[in-house]
Amino acid sequence: MNCAVVGATGAVGRELLGLLESRAFPVAMLRCFASPRSIGRKVPFAGRVIDVQALHEHAFDGCDFVFFDASDAVSKEFVPFAVRSGAWVIDNSSVYRLDPQVPLIVPDVNAAMWNNSRILAGPNCTTVQLVVFLAACAKVAPLKRVVVASYQSTSGAGLLAMDELRAGTVDFLESKPECRSFFPEPIAFNCIPQIGSFDAEGWTSEETKVMMETRKILGHEDLGLVATAVRVPTLHCHAQSVFLEYSHDFTMEQVHTTLADAPGIQLHATYACSRGQYAATGGDDVHVGRLRRDRSVPFGLAAWVVSDNLRRGAALNALHIAEMVCRGIAPS
Ligand SMILES: NC(=O)c1ccc[n+]([C@@H]2O[C@H](COP(=O)([O-])OP(=O)(O)OC[C@H]3O[C@@H](n4cnc5c(N)ncnc54)[C@H](OP(=O)(O)O)[C@@H]3O)[C@@H](O)[C@H]2O)c1
Repeated sequence: MNCAVVGATGAVGRELLGLLESRAFPVAMLRCFASPRSIGRKVPFAGRVIDVQALHEHAFDGCDFVFFDASDAVSKEFVPFAVRSGAWVIDNSSVYRLDPQVPLIVPDVNAAMWNNSRILAGPNCTTVQLVVFLAACAKVAPLKRVVVASYQSTSGAGLLAMDELRAGTVDFLESKPECRSFFPEPIAFNCIPQIGSFDAEGWTSEETKVMMETRKILGHEDLGLVATAVRVPTLHCHAQSVFLEYSHDFTMEQVHTTLADAPGIQLHATYACSRGQYAATGGDDVHVGRLRRDRSVPFGLAAWVVSDNLRRGAALNALHIAEMVCRGIAPS
């Protein structure tokens, strides 16, 4: 396959390049794109060195797959050129996620929603791990309501946001004023209950994305779902405290058995701390632990869900989509 990665120097793009290589995606030709700041940079790939290029309207000619991992503005401007070139476009920005013509795909959960659209959208990283967990839980009994609070690492906002945490931590410890350009408050030693911008009702754009995208992926438009998104001073992985309410009774044994069998989920069934339950950096799975019955409602379940946002929440999902397309149809 002739492939292009837009945003190849970024947090998600770099993860994707590593996965294309380690999962032996059949890459014949690779083009790497980034902002004009990165022209002249080189990125390593499968024993080769690829020059980073600037985008232009014919950048994707001859490509089978184009992965967009840059920004909403870049996707808005350049996805149409990629479609015109005849490529399959896998877009990780939020531009197409809620477009009714575009499937929003997490292949383990809703591959069947792919409608042969040339553009396939990947969800917000927080949404990916939530839908993998909820789709498995929904095999036990129908879901009635979900309350989720997410504790999101700085890498969810990209490489420069991670740098801001590192620099801010040093500044804090040296009693210097902390710089802040990515976050509304200094992020070092802090938790910030605001990711994105507020709407008129006080929901942040991140919370709205999680609620809308989850409903679209699960095909459950009237699912009661409340999200609170908090930025925390970690580099990798997003964690979620999830409370869900079933529409009828269930047993904890059913939940354990179903989650233990669910693809892409690693269940931590005991209550002792185990590797992965609290730190999942570099892994492919969604980790589920701290499972307990929530007795404050008739049929409630509480859980702690963790995964690597850059990998499972973005790059691996994009690659799973490409693998799904390859299995479904060979690009012409
Ligand atoms: N981070 C996550 O956990 C996550 C999860 C799901 C989806 N996403 C989405 O994935 C995308 C990338 O996020 P990220 O976290 O990887 O951000 P990032 O680390 O800031 O990387 C952004 C990338 O986009 C490139 N870029 C910026 N402006 C560009 C332009 N005008 N033309 C071409 N390339 C340009 C950057 O190039 P330079 O290096 O030259 O600046 C860099 O390679 C975003 O759309 C984000 O919403 C991110």
